[in-house]
Amino acid sequence: MKITFLGHASLSIEINDITVLVDPFISGNPKASHINIDTLKADYILLTHAHQDHILDAEAIAKRTGAKIVSNYEIVNHYAEKGIEGHPMNHGGSWTFDFGVVKYVNAIHTSSFPDGTYGGNPGGFVIEGEHKNIYIAGDTALTFDMKLIPMQTNLDLAILPIGDNFTMGVQDALKASEFVECDKILGYHFDTFGYIEIDHQEAKKMFFDNNKDLMLLEIGENLEL
Ligand code: NI
Ligand code: MN
Repeated sequence: MKITFLGHASLSIEINDITVLVDPFISGNPKASHINIDTLKADYILLTHAHQDHILDAEAIAKRTGAKIVSNYEIVNHYAEKGIEGHPMNHGGSWTFDFGVVKYVNAIHTSSFPDGTYGGNPGGFVIEGEHKNIYIAGDTALTFDMKLIPMQTNLDLAILPIGDNFTMGVQDALKASEFVECDKILGYHFDTFGYIEIDHQEAKKMFFDNNKDLMLLEIGENLEL
């Protein structure tokens, strides 16, 4: 499994020959100007919730690639009205796709579309694929519901928001990594805007001091599991 950080909360995950994009917000992110959405591959686009900083490029990429949108029922319906194929899910549900098993799990956040229309309730994803399991938390507060995840899945990586203000900050993300019982963490949802700037060294040290590894990738950089 290869995971490329595309800035903010955007990820490209390659599992075998399948590319799963997550929360594509690239063309609106000045820090990601070196990433061209017209050349990104996608077989699936997973959307955690309907906020602009998670869906901005989903429509364009889905229309160009024919990628299927996987998200909550309301978000998938929103794109179905635009002629985009999707797979609706809701909290607690799992589905076996050709790249692995996806479970849509709870997140504490909100989920309106940029025009204010209802975007269902926000979530995160647990993906069990190719002998590697990951948790993509989406935008969320720290919640005890995270403790349910390791009861079912041994995680190899937890992808957690760390920017604070709109989501967990570093301290709560450290607690979240304990709740999900995972020592390898990829931080995301930081530095994109003024509200969510963090001190990288301080954040890494906080995890290191607790025997955990917080990875912060450059935009375009990847890691292999
Ligand atoms: Ni959000
Ligand atoms: Mn967000």
